[in-house]
Amino acid sequence: MDSNLTDKVAVISGASHGLGQAIAQDLASRGVHVVLIARGEERLRQTADAIRANGGAANPIPCDVSDAAQVQAAASEIERRFSAVDILINNAGIPAPRSFSETQISDWDSVIGVNLSGVFYLTRALWDCLIRADSATVINISGTAGTRGGGSPAYGSAKFGLTGLNHAIALAGVDHNIRSTILYPGGMDTGWRGAPIGEMPRSESMDPAEVARFIAQLAASPPEFVVNEAVLNPLNQPYM
Ligand SMILES: NC(=O)c1ccc[n+]([C@@H]2O[C@H](COP(=O)([O-])OP(=O)(O)OC[C@H]3O[C@@H](n4cnc5c(N)ncnc54)[C@H](OP(=O)(O)O)[C@@H]3O)[C@@H](O)[C@H]2O)c1
Repeated sequence: MDSNLTDKVAVISGASHGLGQAIAQDLASRGVHVVLIARGEERLRQTADAIRANGGAANPIPCDVSDAAQVQAAASEIERRFSAVDILINNAGIPAPRSFSETQISDWDSVIGVNLSGVFYLTRALWDCLIRADSATVINISGTAGTRGGGSPAYGSAKFGLTGLNHAIALAGVDHNIRSTILYPGGMDTGWRGAPIGEMPRSESMDPAEVARFIAQLAASPPEFVVNEAVLNPLNQPYM
């Protein structure tokens, strides 16, 4: 148990797989009550069951973060149950076609909808809950595409936009003891874009459980300062 985090409430989007699932498991193991958000109910329920089986507390709430009405309904449920939210991890994200010519308008709309608008919808809907916490932490998961763009117009634009949104959340949070951090991870071993899991050396593809451990330490850091941003890369790929 981490005494800084015990009995805190965390809302994690994209919590049924990959990094979000690892964050939920790690925070729950430190005594945090985790609220799990994703679209697919089965994987969400399985994740919550596994956390409870390990002695943690988890509430699954099926929700598509790109749908403002679903996000508002989820936030209302969270507010009724907990009133205050100490930690919000905006992690849900989807990939996009890599090239300009392959990117359809529907790709653009869905990727901006999940990876950028979804962060605004969820943070805005939970704002009063974050204010009610003594000192809340928001952590936005970008990617190294958020530092350098990259080939994918929709993904790179969404992650660049997230940098601006993170700054806006941090500034708005100053009067309410809410801090906001943006993380730019490189490759993680989550099966992203259909990559096989567990085959790459850790120095080329980061273990999501280790990235989650870093994120939990960030959430537990002293509330008198904010880590504005951090770039995390596999050891063999610095400055990617
Ligand atoms: N893996 C990498 O190499 C890598 C590198 C840099 C940055 N990132 C970023 O890290 C974050 C997590 O990536 P990951 O690799 O862990 O992804 P992942 O394994 O594909 O998991 C994505 C999670 O997000 C959920 N999700 C997807 N769309 C959603 C929506 N509209 N509403 C709510 N939940 C949704 C998924 O569940 P459902 O499908 O059931 O909704 C799932 O739980 C993303 O923001 C990604 O851009 C990943």
